[in-house]
Amino acid sequence: MSGDLRLGVNIDHVATIRNARGGLHPDPLRAAQVAAAAGADGITAHLREDRRHIDDRDIARLRAEIDLPLNLEMAATEEMLAIALRHKPHAACIVPEKREERTTEGGLDAKGGFDKLLPFVTRLGEAGIRVSLFIEPDLTQLDAAKALGAPVVELHTGAYCDTPAGPGRLAQLEHVRTAAAHAETLGLECHAGHGLTFDTVEPVAAILTIKELNIGHFLIGEAIFSGLEAAILRMRLLMGEARAASKR
Ligand code: PXP
Repeated sequence: MSGDLRLGVNIDHVATIRNARGGLHPDPLRAAQVAAAAGADGITAHLREDRRHIDDRDIARLRAEIDLPLNLEMAATEEMLAIALRHKPHAACIVPEKREERTTEGGLDAKGGFDKLLPFVTRLGEAGIRVSLFIEPDLTQLDAAKALGAPVVELHTGAYCDTPAGPGRLAQLEHVRTAAAHAETLGLECHAGHGLTFDTVEPVAAILTIKELNIGHFLIGEAIFSGLEAAILRMRLLMGEARAASKR
């Protein structure tokens, strides 16, 4: 058990594989059911503007058929806001989105985009949807997230995960640690995600002020070799061990 550290399983790339051929297989809903059975605390799905993986029907089915909280990752666009307000997921994580990027490269500019983001944070919050902002572990971005009224931030762990093991990665981890401490000072709930693997999850899970990790690509890739349930169980085990060691 990971105790007070939740795991959100991102199922986007089940849909990526499905869409490579069209048709219905493999089904992201089935992946969400397996994740639920394996002890995931939530399901995360990113409905991108170009629908390259998750599509509108997936979101409707996840809302209708999965009991776990749904965390909808979305760009700050009117189209996505309307979809979020229609489906009312438990949570919405606002992410930056560029059509040509392969994945979410870097965090949201909560500071520079303050005026644009404010109506999205406000309208989602008024609808009872827990809003998080996906930002770099950067103190000015955390301050902007607080000023925007978002109750949650998700720290982008891509730079930490992508840096080869060694002093450079440790320096990136320190940014995450410092940002998580600052989030607590500001009264923001702190989540983290992007690029996490069995090799990189433990130091992040050991940061006690981080309350949720959202992990997708690695788990879906690992599922090819070990099955999704086994991949999730191992991830939870590593999270739980790191958390317990940090509390000792
Ligand atoms: N959190 C957010 C906000 C994301 O955009 C993503 C990627 O969609 C993830 C977590 C999961 O990242 P990964 O698939 O690399 O585990």
